[in-house]
Amino acid sequence: MTQDEQKQAVARAARDHVAANIGTHAIIGVGTGSTANFFIDELAAIKDRLAGAVASSEATRVRLQGHGIRVFDLNEVEDLPIYVDGADEIDMSLMMIKGGGGALTREKIVAAVAKTFVCLCDQSKLVQTLGRFPLPVEVIPMARAYVGRELAKLGGQATLRENFITDNGNLILDLHGLSIADPVALETAIDRIVGVVTNGLFARRAADILLLATAAGVKTVTSATIPS
Ligand code: A5P
Repeated sequence: MTQDEQKQAVARAARDHVAANIGTHAIIGVGTGSTANFFIDELAAIKDRLAGAVASSEATRVRLQGHGIRVFDLNEVEDLPIYVDGADEIDMSLMMIKGGGGALTREKIVAAVAKTFVCLCDQSKLVQTLGRFPLPVEVIPMARAYVGRELAKLGGQATLRENFITDNGNLILDLHGLSIADPVALETAIDRIVGVVTNGLFARRAADILLLATAAGVKTVTSATIPS
């Protein structure tokens, strides 16, 4: 299977998972990126079962609306039974690095509200230790240089993502060269730097379910199936 075929397979599995696990007229959270795009296209097939969706980015909002799926402002919504999104890396604790597409802050907000986070990945994203993928950090523009110096003290080298502004009007610093032994501690330490909006470690709010595309088909991994 090509990588796109794997993304298509997990997207279809996620559509079936959503259909089996939501009541009628539910609102679900929808992530950002190429895997999430496959999911949005699959979601169109069950859109009559949904009241609509909350989008984690402008790009996702446009794609959902293109399929005739109503998009709600998160402030209008109290319950999100499910949030479906991809990841840049995921470990066996279902902790992730996200934000390769720069939508990490809205993704983290929608994930915080959702009851269940369903992550969609192909096997290339599954790692023993997070950190090979550069960790995105969203930064208020005037704090860019200060935050870069503070990030250097935590290890790794921060580079400015060129020609990129987030949906929130901020910058992204990508932190290279990390091997993240304690994702919860690093997520917390980076969030404490003044000028950081958020960072792409999803460790305090990890995924609940991983739909993993493999050559043998889509596997479902949950915290209950992870060997202790
Ligand atoms: C968007 O900001 C990211 O968090 C994406 O969810 C993540 O980068 C995965 O994207 P792909 O599905 O395109 O690999």
